[in-house]
Amino acid sequence: MSELKWWQRGVIYQIYPRSYQDSNGDGVGDLRGITARLDYLATLGIEAVWLSPIFTSPMKDFGYDVADYCNVDPLFGTLDDFDDLVRAAHDRGLKVMLDFVPNHSSDEHPWFLESRSSRTSARRDWYIWRDPAPDGGPPNNWKSFFGGDAWTYDDTTGQYYLHQFLTGQPELNWANPDVRRAMSDVLRFWMRRGVDGFRVDVIWLLAKDPTFANEPLNPDWQPGQLDHGQLVHTGTQDLPLTHAYIRELRAALDEFEDRMMVGEIYLPIERLVTYYGSGEGAECHLPFNFHLINTPWTAGAVRRLVDEYDAAVSAVGGWPNWVLGNHDQHRFRSRVGDAQYRVAQTLLLTLRGTPTVYYGDEIGMRDVPVPLEQQRDPQGLQQPDVPGASRDPERTPMQWDDQPNAGFSSAQPWLPVAEDAPIVNVAAQAQAEGSDLQYFRALTRLRAQRPALHAGTYRPVDTPFEDVFAYLREHEGDRVLVLLNFGGARRTLDLGALGTARTLLSSDAATDVTLADLELRPHEARVLDLA
Ligand code: GLC
Repeated sequence: MSELKWWQRGVIYQIYPRSYQDSNGDGVGDLRGITARLDYLATLGIEAVWLSPIFTSPMKDFGYDVADYCNVDPLFGTLDDFDDLVRAAHDRGLKVMLDFVPNHSSDEHPWFLESRSSRTSARRDWYIWRDPAPDGGPPNNWKSFFGGDAWTYDDTTGQYYLHQFLTGQPELNWANPDVRRAMSDVLRFWMRRGVDGFRVDVIWLLAKDPTFANEPLNPDWQPGQLDHGQLVHTGTQDLPLTHAYIRELRAALDEFEDRMMVGEIYLPIERLVTYYGSGEGAECHLPFNFHLINTPWTAGAVRRLVDEYDAAVSAVGGWPNWVLGNHDQHRFRSRVGDAQYRVAQTLLLTLRGTPTVYYGDEIGMRDVPVPLEQQRDPQGLQQPDVPGASRDPERTPMQWDDQPNAGFSSAQPWLPVAEDAPIVNVAAQAQAEGSDLQYFRALTRLRAQRPALHAGTYRPVDTPFEDVFAYLREHEGDRVLVLLNFGGARRTLDLGALGTARTLLSSDAATDVTLADLELRPHEARVLDLA
């Protein structure tokens, strides 16, 4: 265990600060609120806490539009509050990770204000400005993830600037070495304050095709899907130069001891694993693996994914990682359904590699329906015709107890609280034997205790049932078997060839079993110790 780094050994827990805990009664969560909940976080058996952006921001994309990379937005508190949080987290053995947003800033960032002021401004080239097309329209056909063109015309200087998200999120020009230096300095600023690592926003988008050619049409796109999918992103995603830029960020990280970065990357596995780096240098410690989110929830599809990913990561000498949810994806409990919730949680926490857990998933929070008039997310508001485009349902306040606003705030929260909060909450589940929270803690405890689970190899085990996924984790003689029933039927397995076993944990009731005649209940997840 000691040979593993903290980011390999442990679980990363994502906090969306707006929704975790409000300490000053404005209906929005803040840093002091998080500090007040550190004792709870320490009971979860996690290694690190990652905070979605806390920086100065006009909040058009709720902090993913940064107006000062080296300060805290007053909504969340002050730099002193941040220092207190880091100290208090470290006192409890928890690492702190920040969300670094280097691809774009806010249009209110002083760099952009200067850049847009004139064609000859010293920072003109810090952003991506192009002349209009001959007809006066945008320079090419690139699209925004939030709908519409990726270009906005600026009257002051008669050129368009590029933004793959909101018009308020102009893209920084990573081809400019001054920009790259400034971004590495931001990392240094926070590392000197004790930050242990970074989640790096849209890292696979940093480089752009310098010819600015049109992107080809995507023949698979269907009306009703996000507008952005209409194109194949040959000019804006996964360009070779991105790797060189990431190596520079990595070099800045490596000036400090034991820091890490995990990159946000939505790409097929064979492309994803190139982001660990190459002979030319190391890149991301972890390129986020989001594939569980979009893989159909069947034992066969999930096993094929795990086999393929595990092999691909091993081939490049990387360390694997798994994600079921984040602030951009619908809650996994709502995706897989209540019956499969514990199967999914068990999978996440027993696969080989670092799991990232989204706040509230440990108590089984579901998507919260948010009526149009209460919606806040620009991705949804700008694309009202695209079903499910709003990310508000997965960003609602953490459910702490059965008090008003679920104990999140004394004021009306910025997004509605789930209706089931009086039942689904931390306080209730901390008391109730067999609750989702207790199941989560049992899983993280097992993961920490068993070398097979935090350090071991992965090997799938064939069973005669297509709705059962079984695998063996093994490290220096420590052997753990995981059985996941993805279906609603009882399944009796003969795994006698594996030896004898003792149940460590079951999503259901942990009775003892013999491997030669092992009954899995419908939707059961079972973790076994193999003698
Ligand atoms: C990332 C973030 C998302 C944000 C976007 C623009 O995908 O996860 O929340 O809207 O980048 O920064």
